[in-house]
Amino acid sequence: MARLSLAGVSKEFGSVAAVSPLSLDITDGELVCLLGPSGSGKSTLLRMIGGFEMPTAGQVLIDGQDVAHVRPNRRPTAMVFQSHALWTHMNVFENVAFGLKLRKLPAAQVHEKVMTALELVGLNGYEKRSPRQLSGGQQQRVAIARCLVLEPKILLMDEPFASLDQHLRERLREEVRQIQRKLGITTLFVTHAQDEALALADRIVVMSMGAIEQVGTPDEIYANPSTPFVAGFIGTMNMLKGIAQAGHVSAAGFRVKADIADGEATLAVRPEDFVLTDGGLAVKVRRVVNLGPYLLAEAEGGDGSAITVHIDKNRVVREGDILAIAPQRYAVYREGAAPYRSA
Ligand SMILES: Nc1ncnc2c1ncn2[C@@H]1O[C@H](COP(=O)(O)OP(=O)(O)OP(=O)(O)O)[C@@H](O)[C@H]1O
Ligand SMILES: [Mg+2]
Repeated sequence: MARLSLAGVSKEFGSVAAVSPLSLDITDGELVCLLGPSGSGKSTLLRMIGGFEMPTAGQVLIDGQDVAHVRPNRRPTAMVFQSHALWTHMNVFENVAFGLKLRKLPAAQVHEKVMTALELVGLNGYEKRSPRQLSGGQQQRVAIARCLVLEPKILLMDEPFASLDQHLRERLREEVRQIQRKLGITTLFVTHAQDEALALADRIVVMSMGAIEQVGTPDEIYANPSTPFVAGFIGTMNMLKGIAQAGHVSAAGFRVKADIADGEATLAVRPEDFVLTDGGLAVKVRRVVNLGPYLLAEAEGGDGSAITVHIDKNRVVREGDILAIAPQRYAVYREGAAPYRSA
């Protein structure tokens, strides 16, 4: 376990600012997800922590020690890479043992540690197999065991399950969560899948264009996204363009209270935060999808904008129906101002 602090860390590749100066503190035993679209700087940030990329500026501190000039294999970190590569000329045991052999541990200790690591990822009995004889999920587990066996204080995982199907991803991330809890290992997990981040993380760091947009628990980020980017990126959010004027915002035919400066603004409403009400805005249903626990209706607002609404599954709603809806809970975003949130 270790504390990790990033202090003004940045990375430029020539004229590309992959990571703008950012600071972040991660506590002992925490599991933090770095979440953001492709190219937002997640891998670059992780690689700087692991020592595979030298920051242009700033410090990476592990338990208060600046590790700038410490080589990757001398850092108390281990990394599962985005494109993991097992050595196909080695069997599973040898793949996992490799890092320990570099450390010149006695064979008996290597054996014990490798078997423990394989057991942790549920692969005991697979020692003699070639990576070619493993499924994608099993290969990922070997890649994880290869890191765990080094007993790192900080585990860095760069989209380790990106190539796997949804079902397997969900299972493996639960396994990672359990191992992480059991070992209390400080973990940074990169993903561009928001469901993965919401399910896995103690805290989520949302990144966009090399900068941190928001840091918070999954609940905080879902309930109170602090920027339009986060609002649009996490979960489903209706982002309705409108105008703020005299303490109200008008968008898509809605007019709601918003204590925010006059000008262009965006009304943000989650599909589950609309209510059906007589005084509401009349919207026309274009499509209805039964999602089991509720119906998802795609409707058309006053100005033709698309609005997604969740409706109780016991109601009968069909294409072409007119519904009267109102946002019960919403936020209003305006450039250069703190968001306004309804009570
Ligand atoms: N070695 C490099 N040389 C030049 N530019 C680079 C290099 N590595 C990354 N970049 C650029 O830095 C930016 C951030 O890249 P990075 O790989 O960190 O993104 P990412 O968030 O991990 O994306 P993805 O989700 O696609 O893996 C991108 O614009 C990328 O093109
Ligand atoms: Mg990446």
